[in-house]
Amino acid sequence: MSLTITKLDPIGALITDPDLDYLLNNPAAGEELTRALDENSVLLVRGLHLDDDTQLALARRMGEVVVKHTPGWSDEHPGIYRIALDPAANDELYVKGSWDWHIDGASSNGIPPKATMLTCRGVPGAGGDTQALSTYVAYDMLTDEEKTRFEGLKVWHKVRPEAYTEKINLTEAQRARLETEPANLHPLVWTHLDGRKSLVLGITADRIDGLDKAESDAILADLNERCSRPELVLTHSWQLDDLLIWDNTGTMHRGRPYTETSGRDMHRCTIVGYEPIQ
Ligand code: SIN
Repeated sequence: MSLTITKLDPIGALITDPDLDYLLNNPAAGEELTRALDENSVLLVRGLHLDDDTQLALARRMGEVVVKHTPGWSDEHPGIYRIALDPAANDELYVKGSWDWHIDGASSNGIPPKATMLTCRGVPGAGGDTQALSTYVAYDMLTDEEKTRFEGLKVWHKVRPEAYTEKINLTEAQRARLETEPANLHPLVWTHLDGRKSLVLGITADRIDGLDKAESDAILADLNERCSRPELVLTHSWQLDDLLIWDNTGTMHRGRPYTETSGRDMHRCTIVGYEPIQ
């Protein structure tokens, strides 16, 4: 058996008629999912009714699952991270921090996760869509002159307090915490192990190394705007039990705003990556 997929617009693919038994118990299923993900950037799977155990088991078919023990991460189901505006589930700061375009792990100096899997355990009453865009497409859209100019540029990435100003009235303690987050330098153009190139952008991209702030801000704002034009963005409106998987190394994603009472509850896990941003 192999996966049957239907392309989504402008990126992504829906896996039609998924068979949970096959996905969990056939060693080839993980490779098929990974191949489909590499070819389509985002996969949508409906009707699997995953709980935390089966979500983790499916993730393990695709690789090793990232486990942390910081706010939002489950102790009962190591590897599961809750994204919900409920103080019992996670810290508002982290949840609202995911409402801007980003690549998971881009603000750190480690290897970013290969893929992220999000299941919908509580449907948002209003808002709360998830969007994704291809950072390979973002690179391909550059002119030849831009490709040459940007090839050697490096960008400082960090979790920036300014990114929160319209979403949270930061307390002094929260601001101080964010200000101590380290900045890490990544190339603007990521040359992947297979030779393909993508752009490393998003809310964590703070400053192009060696350029003055005005020039750096103008370039980053222009690139972020061009790659996230509506016709390039997949918008997913959640139904209960939907599973969305994105290739974190070739996409950016963001949640759209929602309120504390929206009922939105997402369970996330990520697959350990193997490609440094280089
Ligand atoms: C995330 O950034 O991992 C979550 C995005 C979302 O909640 O839609």
